[in-house]
Amino acid sequence: MIVVHSKQELAEQIAEWRLHDEHVALVPTMGSLHAGHVALVDLAREHAERVVVSIFVNPTQFGDGEDFDDYPRTLERDKRLLKKTTADLIFAPDVKTMYPFGLEMATSVSVPRLTENFCGASRPGHFDGVTTVVARLFTLVLPDVAVFGQKDYQQQLVIRHMTEDLNFPIKIITGETVRADDGLALSSRNSYLSGEERAAAPVLYETLCSTGQELQNGRRNFAELEADALERLGNAGFEVDYYSIRRALNMEIPDRDCDDLVVLAAARLGATRLIDNIVVTT
Ligand code: PAF
Repeated sequence: MIVVHSKQELAEQIAEWRLHDEHVALVPTMGSLHAGHVALVDLAREHAERVVVSIFVNPTQFGDGEDFDDYPRTLERDKRLLKKTTADLIFAPDVKTMYPFGLEMATSVSVPRLTENFCGASRPGHFDGVTTVVARLFTLVLPDVAVFGQKDYQQQLVIRHMTEDLNFPIKIITGETVRADDGLALSSRNSYLSGEERAAAPVLYETLCSTGQELQNGRRNFAELEADALERLGNAGFEVDYYSIRRALNMEIPDRDCDDLVVLAAARLGATRLIDNIVVTT
C-alpha cells in the first residue's frame, strides 16, 4: 500500500492507474480508523479497481471550542490497519497542502437549506467545512465513486446535493453503519466516553430501534414518538440535541402516510456528542 502526502505524488499515481483504465474510489476520512471505515473500504473496492483513503483532520469543519486539537491522530496505527484491507493508497496531506492560501483565504463551498438544521444548527459552519474539504478531495483525486457512512446521514445527503449541483462526475455511495455488539455505532469519538458513559451509550440505538418498531406497527403520531424517545434518553443520562422523524429522501417533515422515513438523533453523554440514525421503510 502506497502512502503519499503531496498533491504531486497523488496525481502521478492516479494518472498511472488511469493509463491502465482502472476506476478509482475515494473513502474520505479523518483517520483514527475503525471497523466502520474498513467496511467503507470494502464497499469502495466493490465499485473500483483502486481505492484511495484520505486521512485529514479538517480544521474548517470544527467550530470554536470543539475537539480539533484533541481529535485522535493515529496515522501509524491507521496505516497498519489499512495494510490489511484492499486499500491501495493513503493520501495524508497537511493543512498547507489542502489549504494553500491559508484558512482565512480559502475558497469555500456551501450548501444552503440542507445544512441549516440538525447538526448544522448545533455546529454552525460545520457542513461548510465538510463540503469545502470534500470538494477539494474530489478535484485532487478525481474519483469515479466516493463512499460515505450512513451514521453521518445529513453529511451524506449534503454531499450528494453538492455533487449533483456542481456536476462532479462522481457516484456517491452510502455504506451502512457498523455497530459494536451492543448496538453502539462505531465512531472515532467513542474513545472519549468514560466506562459509565460507554455502558449507557447503546440506549441511543435501542431508542431508535423502538421508534422504528412503533412506526412499523403503524403509529403515526410523530411528535408523540419523539417525546417518548426524549424521555427515555433523558432517563438514561443523555442530553439530547435533536431526535426527529423525517423523510429519508431529504430530511423534511414527513406526511403521516410517508413510507420512507429516517429517525435522526444527536445526544451528549457528558462531553461526548453521539449521533446515530435508522432508516425505516413501512
Ligand atoms: O466524515 C468524516 O470523517 C469527515 O466529515 C469527512 C467526510 C472525511 C470530511 O472531513
